[in-house]
Amino acid sequence: MEFHTIIEPFRIKSVESVKFTRREDRVTALRAAGYNVFRLHAEDVLIDLLTDSGTGAMSAAQWSAIMQADESYAGSRSFYRFESVVKDLTGFAHVIPTHQGRAAERILFHTVLKPGQVVPNNNHFDTTRANIEVEAAEALDLVIHQGTVPHVIHPFKGDIDLAALERLLDDRGDLVPLVMVTVTNNSGGGQPVSLENLRGVRRLCDRHRKPFFLDACRFAENAWFIKLREPGQAGRTPKAIAQEMFSLADGCTMSAKKDGLANIGGFLAMNDPAWAEAARNLLILTEGFPTYGGLAGYDLEAVARGLEEVVEEDYLRYRIRSTEYLGEKLIAADVPIIRPPGGHAIYLDARALLPHVPPLAYPGIALANQLYVEAGIRGVEIGTVMFGMRPDGTERPGPMDLVRLAIPRRVYTQSHIDYVAEAVIAVASARAGLRGYRIVSAPKTLRHFTAMFEPMA
Ligand code: F0G
Repeated sequence: MEFHTIIEPFRIKSVESVKFTRREDRVTALRAAGYNVFRLHAEDVLIDLLTDSGTGAMSAAQWSAIMQADESYAGSRSFYRFESVVKDLTGFAHVIPTHQGRAAERILFHTVLKPGQVVPNNNHFDTTRANIEVEAAEALDLVIHQGTVPHVIHPFKGDIDLAALERLLDDRGDLVPLVMVTVTNNSGGGQPVSLENLRGVRRLCDRHRKPFFLDACRFAENAWFIKLREPGQAGRTPKAIAQEMFSLADGCTMSAKKDGLANIGGFLAMNDPAWAEAARNLLILTEGFPTYGGLAGYDLEAVARGLEEVVEEDYLRYRIRSTEYLGEKLIAADVPIIRPPGGHAIYLDARALLPHVPPLAYPGIALANQLYVEAGIRGVEIGTVMFGMRPDGTERPGPMDLVRLAIPRRVYTQSHIDYVAEAVIAVASARAGLRGYRIVSAPKTLRHFTAMFEPMA
C-alpha cells in the first residue's frame, strides 16, 4: 500500500497558546501601530507570517544541545562543533560566526567594498541591499526575466541572468569586487536557483577572476527544489546537493535564523585567508571574539544541530509541500500569487489583486493591513515601501508589489494553514473595498520597518 498524505515529520512536545482578538481590537491596534504591521505587539497577532526568520520551533535535540554548551569566551567546545558542521556542509576554510545574517553582510561588505563599486545578485534582499548602499556602492539585481513576472511558471525563477552578468563583467568588471547569488531568492518569491545556473556563475567568475559568494539563508530549501526539479538530481541527498552548491562558490553569508533552524545566529564563511583575516578583525571590533561572534555558546550548539536537521529528507519534503499546499488552495480560488509557490513563503501579488491601488499608494500595505484586521494574520509587504526608495531620495514603484506570507519552520499545523487560506480568499473577494495608504513619516534607509502610514480617503 502507498499513502499520499504528507504528514508533519514530528510530534509536538511543548505548546504555546495563541491569543484570539476581536476585529475592533485589531482595528485599534493597527491604528496605534501607524498602520505598519511591524509595529504591532506580536501578542495581538493570531497567526504570525511576518517572517520565517528566527521564528521556527527547535527540536528536543537542539534544546538538549543547548544545555551541553560551553560558554568559554575563547576556544569554546561549542564553537569547534559549530565550525566542523559548517565546514562539512560548505567546505569553506574560514568560518566566522555572527549574530545573524546582516552582521555577516556588514562585515563582508565593509571589508571588501569601495565607493562606486557594483555587487550583482539575482535579487538582493533588503538588508543586503542596504549594507551595500551604505558603503556608497551599487546593489544590482540581475534575476532572469521570468523571475520578475509573478504568473510565469519556471522551475528555477531564482536563476541569475548569465548574459546580463557577463555583460556587466565585460563592461564594468573592474568595479565588481564579488558576485552574489541568493538561494532561494527571497525578494523574488522564495524561488530556487539551479545547479546549472550556479555552475554558469562559477565559469564567469573564473574567467573574470571574481570571487563568488552565496547568500545561503535558505540553502536546504534550494537543494530540495534542485532534487525535485533539476534533471539528474532526483537520486541525490539534499545534503550532497547543498555541498555541491557551496563547492561552486568561494564563500557565503548565512542567516542561521532560516535554514539553521535556530532563533538567532549566522556566519560568514570563505576560502580567501586575507579577506577572512580582515573580516575577523572587524568582527572583534563589533561582534565579539572569532570563536563566538556575538553568540552564546548555546546558540552555536543550536545552529550546529539545526544545520544537520535541516537537510533531512522527511523534513524538507514536509516543509516544501506545506508551503505548496497553501499556494494550491489560493491558486484554485484565483488569488494571484507568485507561481510556482516558493519554499518558505507564499507571495500574494497585491499589484494584480488591487489594480485600483497604484504602486505609490502601496497596494501591499493595503492588503497586509486588511489581512490583519479581518483575520489576525500578519504578513509583510515586499514591494514599493520596501524597495521603492532610491539612494538619491526619490521614490519609484518597486519591482513588484507583494505580500509575503512566510511560514515559520515546524510551528503551524495544517488547520492553521487552512484558516490562512480561507481568510486570504475572503479578503481577496472583498478587494474592491480596499484603499491605498500614504506615508506620514519614514526613516531614510530600510523605511519599511518603522514607517508610519495613514489610509487614503
Ligand atoms: N539575506 C536574505 C535572503 C534574507 O532573507 C535575510 C533575512 C537576510 C539576508 C538577513 O538575515 O535577518 O539574519 O540579518 N530575511 C528575513 C526575512 C528578515 O524576513 O526574510 P538576518
